[in-house]
Amino acid sequence: MKALQLVDEESDKIAFREIDIPKTERTKVLIKLKAAALNHRDQWCRQGMYPGLKYEVTLGSDGAGVVEKVGDDVNQSWIGKEVILNPNIDWGSNPVAQSNSYHILGMPTNGTFAEYVMVDVDRLAAKPEHLSFSEAAALPLAGLTAYRALFTKGLVKDGSNVLVTGIGGGVAQMAFFLAKAAGANVYITSGNQDKIDLAVKNGAQAGYNYKDENWTKTAKADSKGFDAIIDSGGGDLINQYLKVINPGGRIVCYGSTSGTPKNLDVFRLFWSQASIHGSTMGNDQEFVDMIGFVNEHKVIPAVDSVRPFDQAVSAFDEMKAGSQNGKLVLEF
Ligand SMILES: NC(=O)c1ccc[n+]([C@@H]2O[C@H](COP(=O)([O-])OP(=O)(O)OC[C@H]3O[C@@H](n4cnc5c(N)ncnc54)[C@H](OP(=O)(O)O)[C@@H]3O)[C@@H](O)[C@H]2O)c1
Repeated sequence: MKALQLVDEESDKIAFREIDIPKTERTKVLIKLKAAALNHRDQWCRQGMYPGLKYEVTLGSDGAGVVEKVGDDVNQSWIGKEVILNPNIDWGSNPVAQSNSYHILGMPTNGTFAEYVMVDVDRLAAKPEHLSFSEAAALPLAGLTAYRALFTKGLVKDGSNVLVTGIGGGVAQMAFFLAKAAGANVYITSGNQDKIDLAVKNGAQAGYNYKDENWTKTAKADSKGFDAIIDSGGGDLINQYLKVINPGGRIVCYGSTSGTPKNLDVFRLFWSQASIHGSTMGNDQEFVDMIGFVNEHKVIPAVDSVRPFDQAVSAFDEMKAGSQNGKLVLEF
């Protein structure tokens, strides 16, 4: 089968390879993929900026497809089912934080950028019926990350004022739609005016360009402050968030695309009774809850574009440039 792997010997660091279809082990299932979606971690792996990198590994954490074969210990009724995959592997028994053996499908184990993927049967969930395969493939990793960041860490609820930053991102788009579905007043930031305009058209209260140094004044005047800020930009913008967070509000960081801040405005942090929370992915119960929420509210993940699997490298390049608005999806 054809697979897109992380490789060492080529300057591009990713290459299509012909590899064997995995032999189905006892507790595992073989999925014929219909669609897979990129996450920024795939591009971080390509840039050598992800921990524990291994070469000759098939990238890709997100996928949707049909169960083709099952191992001896797996109920045969799975065969032919349309499924999505929980990319968490070995979260462990503590719902608060992942175990030391935790990892994510697609590095260091083979992922979804291939015609077939093999996973444990307990990683399967039924594909939401209101979603196409491409939309369903866009859901798992971004949906899970956004769900935990918003609801478990950000305590977002009906009527909350929420700021979702960098709205072009795949997780940010999911956070936007999940927060809207929960009844929150959602504001956004972006470095791109077209993305701001589109988000406002889709129901954002207002949007601000984080490259404009006065954005916090406008945002504070419009919103009267935010109860939760959901961010993956990191960097010095964290100090700007402290200017617009409400007393007792929560800044939730799930990424650090712009690195770490040079300074932290500790005075504003303690005086506002605010808190900064880290959030990564989510536990298996949150994955189940996220799918339930998506089904109940008929949430549709934002798909920037869908392209054939053999054009995957161009999707990586787009992700590196940050030009996308939502998820970059590959179809098989
Ligand atoms: N901890 C976790 O579990 C987890 C899970 C998923 C992702 N992440 C991390 O979260 C980040 C986003 O991931 P993704 O998959 O959603 O990637 P993505 O789709 O490539 O999102 C990138 C977006 O980040 C925004 N951005 C860039 N610089 C920014 C800044 N200084 N401030 C605010 N936003 C900025 C841009 O939005 P605009 O174009 O709108 O400006 C860009 O479109 C990555 O760093 C990734 O590693 C972490």
